[in-house]
Amino acid sequence: MNKKTITDIDVQGKKVLVRVDFNVPLSSKDPNDDITVTDDTRIRAALPTLNYLLEHGAALILCSHLGRPKTADDKQFAMDPVAKQLSELLGKPVQKMDEVVGDSVTAAVAAMQPGDVILLENTRFEPGEKKNDPELSAKLAALADVYVNDAFGSAHRAHASTEGVAKALNGPAVAGFLMGKELEALGTAVTNPPHPYVAIMGGAKISDKILLIDNLLKTADFILIGGGMANTFLKAKGYELGTSLVEGEALAEAARLLEVAADRLVLPVDVVVAPEFKADATATTVSVDSIPADQMALDIGPQTLALFKEKLAGAKLVIWNGPMGVFEFARFAQQTNELAQVLATAVDAGTQVMIGGGDSAAAVKNAGLTEKMTHVSTGGGASLELLEGKELPGIAALDDK
Ligand code: 3PG
Repeated sequence: MNKKTITDIDVQGKKVLVRVDFNVPLSSKDPNDDITVTDDTRIRAALPTLNYLLEHGAALILCSHLGRPKTADDKQFAMDPVAKQLSELLGKPVQKMDEVVGDSVTAAVAAMQPGDVILLENTRFEPGEKKNDPELSAKLAALADVYVNDAFGSAHRAHASTEGVAKALNGPAVAGFLMGKELEALGTAVTNPPHPYVAIMGGAKISDKILLIDNLLKTADFILIGGGMANTFLKAKGYELGTSLVEGEALAEAARLLEVAADRLVLPVDVVVAPEFKADATATTVSVDSIPADQMALDIGPQTLALFKEKLAGAKLVIWNGPMGVFEFARFAQQTNELAQVLATAVDAGTQVMIGGGDSAAAVKNAGLTEKMTHVSTGGGASLELLEGKELPGIAALDDK
């Protein structure tokens, strides 16, 4: 990485503003409930950076967004459950503020000693956050001597706490360890992938992934397509998809990609279908040329998985983004889970396997295989944009080496 990191600077006795991605799932949407964090993966992922800074004599002012609140009145998105979880993981008190910036924050920061940890309120409670408002950026910058961005999951957002503040702060603006680790892992796939390089794409919609597939076609040897997006490709090839989800407006793009890719885009040969989108719907496996008119594809079939396994054999690098079916329903999660197993075995055989964040990370977690993978990204949208070859504003704003 050509950006400075926390090991390039001195933080002893400094107040360090750290942008983390603590956008974690919560147990309830009702602010009156005792809301807890249901998956603390993203909080744990920031610990190496936070512990390093604390061990090196910094005082930490942490900030993050949480969910997509419309206003500061959306109290279900207050940071209190995150502060509680973080305090347990760090093994020390975390002072949670009720403001992002303002008098209470300024006073608390002025009183900080090395080793202290403050967590600001949800940055999206400030209307200036998503607008990348220079005034909010300046107020955040005024709190600290140093800015650290460890929020890989939010690096594709040019917001006040991810981009504006890095430029506004009169001092170093550097990357944390998680940011570095993510860029190193996913960056390999973009800049210098070892071959054979196989990408596996899934998820509901092609329209979200056209740029990604275009970019992957420059470097990947095969792109294996599953999930709902496979339906649109199959339709573009002339198959009848019954009542399956097909993106009519993306058919032309699908046809174009099929032409560019020739046999490097590998589509399902069989699918698991059901008469309705329901957890307990009757599942049947059929070939893609005999999908009944009243049924919808909800998973890839076992022959498709066998075909994918063939294409994966001997791969040096695999990137997986998006589930193969409706993995939220156990009945239609089978090939997604099996694929996770296939990839775990590939890692044992020396393949580097990178899991894009979001649903694929959740699928690997469901299968209990997170630890087996070479890298599981903490970023959904951010990992997609990185693999699309885009510059991420949260990273671009940091100091060059
Ligand atoms: C994510 O979960 O992908 C990041 O935290 C970004 O969240 P956002 O899509 O609401 O900006």
